Amino acid sequence: MKHSDKIRDGQAAVRLGLIGAGIIGKKHAVMAENFAGCRLVGISDVNPSAKALADELGANYYSDYEEMIEAESPEGVIIATPTESHATVGVTCAQHGVHLFVEKPIAANVQDAQILVENAKENGVRLLVGHHRRFNSLVETTRLAIKQGKIGKLVAVSVLWVLLKPSDYFQIEWRRQLGGGPVLINLIHDIDTMRYICGEIKRVYAETSSAVRGFEVEDTASVSLRFSGGALGSIVVSDCVPSSWSYEATTGENPYYFRTDDNCYLFFGTEGCLAFPNMRLVRYENPQQAGWQYPLLTEHIQVDDHDPLIRQLDHFCRVIRGKEEPRTSGEDAMRSLAVARAILKSGERAEPLELS
Ligand SMILES: NC(=O)c1ccc[n+]([C@@H]2O[C@H](COP(=O)([O-])OP(=O)(O)OC[C@H]3O[C@@H](n4cnc5c(N)ncnc54)[C@H](O)[C@@H]3O)[C@@H](O)[C@H]2O)c1
Repeated sequence: MKHSDKIRDGQAAVRLGLIGAGIIGKKHAVMAENFAGCRLVGISDVNPSAKALADELGANYYSDYEEMIEAESPEGVIIATPTESHATVGVTCAQHGVHLFVEKPIAANVQDAQILVENAKENGVRLLVGHHRRFNSLVETTRLAIKQGKIGKLVAVSVLWVLLKPSDYFQIEWRRQLGGGPVLINLIHDIDTMRYICGEIKRVYAETSSAVRGFEVEDTASVSLRFSGGALGSIVVSDCVPSSWSYEATTGENPYYFRTDDNCYLFFGTEGCLAFPNMRLVRYENPQQAGWQYPLLTEHIQVDDHDPLIRQLDHFCRVIRGKEEPRTSGEDAMRSLAVARAILKSGERAEPLELS
């Protein structure tokens, strides 16, 4: 289909620009090119090698994103630059009146996130943050099952994100330094997913360790959580252990990861338990015969398979057109960042921390 011919629901496709054509930016660009609801009008990256991608996708290349905005007048931009620049780039785009999709985490720290959220508001632009797991059908179905009380009242949740990062991953300096580790880079996804499924996290208590790799950054953390609804949670996160228990490995969402058929989350309720992502629910069939001597019934909850990144892109187009509210707003994403930051601080101080 020619770009200019893209029409959806009787309206011309949403004009989008991409800022930052690295690992995730390239994925967004290819998806946008193939999605009927939008038209990728420009790609901006400080690295000129991104021009080849722009040429391939029929978009114009710019080394400067402000030039791209002035020349192409996109309705929205996808910001997939390194995390430290999300706030600066986001604020500048907001001042140009362009709606924002910002990759996760919303910013490097809560103060920067706050500035971005305020600027988006002041300039009347919508802000969606890329916690794409909220669009994964497994996550949506689990959230609904828990809301509908399929396991009764939520008592506790167990979260594992444990795998082995290859040693060449650590050749890049920032990945060996504080802030470049599994809590802020990886666990923030699980934190956001837990908040989405189980509600707000009000207290964290973490132990962190860097004993295996010996870098400044943590390689392992163990975290206790208290949710505002009263449920408790426990997390083990580690990037130095050969393991089959992580969201990426168990859901198969990202084909880069070796896939396993294990679970990464377990939800425990007053009437049963649900394993994720194999969606096995166990409970007693007859409430009169409940207790450890009785057999448990096992059910399997069926889930449709959809690509969460495409659903997220579709959602962004609808957000731009005012048809939907951002599923992960700036304030919401800031909260996930605050929890991740609190986990690191709790580990440093060896004390529990309340989240306001
Ligand atoms: N949602 C997810 O699952 C997911 C996955 C990977 C990365 N991310 C997030 O996406 C962001 C980017 O990560 P990545 O791994 O793709 O990084 P990357 O380093 O591969 O890509 C970043 C790109 O931004 C470009 N860039 C830097 N400053 C720029 C500027 N001012 N203007 C234009 N381009 C600029 C760089 O040249 C590079 O091409 C990070 O915030 C990361 O946390 C999210």
